Amino acid sequence: MKVKSIMICFLTCSTGLNIKVKMISIQEKIVLITGSSSGIGASCANVFAQAGAKLILAARRQEKLEELADELTKQFQSQIYLLQLDVRDRLAVESAINSLPEAWKDIEILINNAGLGRGLDKLYVADFNDWEEMIDTNVKGLLYMTRSVVPGMVSRGRGHVVNIGSIAGRAAYPGGNVYCASKAAVRAISEGLKQDLLGTPVRVTEIQPGLVETEFSEVRFHGDTEKAKNVNKD
Ligand SMILES: NC(=O)c1ccc[n+]([C@@H]2O[C@H](COP(=O)([O-])OP(=O)(O)OC[C@H]3O[C@@H](n4cnc5c(N)ncnc54)[C@H](OP(=O)(O)O)[C@@H]3O)[C@@H](O)[C@H]2O)c1
Repeated sequence: MKVKSIMICFLTCSTGLNIKVKMISIQEKIVLITGSSSGIGASCANVFAQAGAKLILAARRQEKLEELADELTKQFQSQIYLLQLDVRDRLAVESAINSLPEAWKDIEILINNAGLGRGLDKLYVADFNDWEEMIDTNVKGLLYMTRSVVPGMVSRGRGHVVNIGSIAGRAAYPGGNVYCASKAAVRAISEGLKQDLLGTPVRVTEIQPGLVETEFSEVRFHGDTEKAKNVNKD
C-alpha cells in the first residue's frame, strides 16, 4: 500500500444534521509506537513514515529497532528517535518520556501496541509467569505509557491515543483466558480514558484486530514455530 498522507479526521456532530469534519495532516507530527520492533507496530511505523511523520520507535530489542529505522530513513528520509524500553518497567517508562529531547517531547499520537500472548493452557493448569507477563505488558504497560504521555497532550490541547486491543477482548476462546481478559481490560481502559478526556481535544481510539500473521504466535509458544504455524491454520 502506498501512503502519501494520513489525515486524522474528527467528526463533530452537534445538533441534528450539523456535522463538522476537521482534517489534520500528520506531516512532521510526532508519533510514538510501542512494540515497533516487529509485526503490527513495525507496519504502523512504515505507514506513518510514508506519510512524513516523525517517529519514536519503542521496544526492548534495540537491534530490531535500528534495522527498521535504517530502512525507513533510507526509504522515506524519516526522522526517527529510538527508545529501548520495557513497558512493564514503570520507572523506566516515566524516565524515558520525561527525558525525551526538547524536539521530541510534543507527542501527537501514542500507539499503545506492545503486547503479547503467552501459552494456550487451560486456566486451571496455566503458568503463573505467563499470566504475570501478559497482564504486566498488555495492561500495566499500556497504563504506564498512557499515564506518562497523556498529560502533555492535555496541556498542549492536542493528541490522539490509539490502543491496540483485540477481538479476543470481546469473545474468549479456549485457552485464551488471561490474554482475552487483558484485551477486555484494554477495551475498558480505552472507554474510561475517552470519558476522562471529555472536554479536552485529546482523542482515544481502540483498534481490535483479528488474526494477523506476525511474531505473535511464536512468542506465545516461546519460540516453538511448529506449534505457532498450527495456530495460524485454525
Ligand atoms: N497478531 C495477531 O493476531 C493479533 C491480533 C489481535 C491483537 N494483536 C495485538 O497486536 C499487538 C502487536 O502484536 P503483533 O501481532 O504485532 O505481535 P509481535 O510481532 O510479537 O509484536 C509484539 C511487539 O510488542 C513488543 N513488546 C512485547 N513485550 C514488550 C515489552 N515488555 N516492552 C516493550 N515492547 C514489548 C515486541 O518487541 P520486543 O520483543 O522487541 O520488546 C514487539 O515489537 C499486541 O498488543 C497484540 O496483542 C495481535
